Amino acid sequence: MNAKPLSTFTALFLLASCQSPSSSESETRPPGTTVLSPSALATARSQPVDFSAHVKPILAAKCVMCHNQEAQPGKMDLSSQAAALRTGAIGLWIVPGIPDQSLLLTKTTSAPAHLKAMPPVGEQITPEELSVLRKWVAEGADWPSGKAGLVSPPN
Ligand code: HEC
Repeated sequence: MNAKPLSTFTALFLLASCQSPSSSESETRPPGTTVLSPSALATARSQPVDFSAHVKPILAAKCVMCHNQEAQPGKMDLSSQAAALRTGAIGLWIVPGIPDQSLLLTKTTSAPAHLKAMPPVGEQITPEELSVLRKWVAEGADWPSGKAGLVSPPN
């Protein structure tokens, strides 16, 4: 497990939870904050979802601090297109064009307190973020190869 991104993430998350007006919700984990701006969300809804603009920020903020080259929990690495293909994240967890068969979506939609709901600790993925990921998968889950498809956790 990569300690640095995790602790940065924890700090960010503490910061965010202090400002969250709904922190009294009866979840075991704090509700998440949508990482996309309202205008980015609107674009993702009205136009084809763009990996760099809409998907990458979500994976970077909510998934890649754990699902990276070093840790690969569930054997899943989401840090690049090549890694996602190699570890079966694309094909098994993400089935391009078929959101209902994509465990990446169905697992992350399970009850937030469920043991296997993702992310298992820290800030939850929000319904808005999930709907963007779902639309992206439905549209074919385009994930650019090379540099454009690299996903790094927040610094
Ligand atoms: C805090 C670390 C952490 C974060 C953040 C995280 N995961 Fe995971 N993930 C894990 C661990 C640990 C496992 C292995 C769980 C198991 O095998 O029971 C896992 C497994 C998975 C699996 C496979 C589930 C299974 O049943 O084998 C999927 C799909 C997944 N994660 C998706 C995501 C997505 C999407 C995100 C971002 C929204 C995310 N994860 C964020 C730690 C994390």
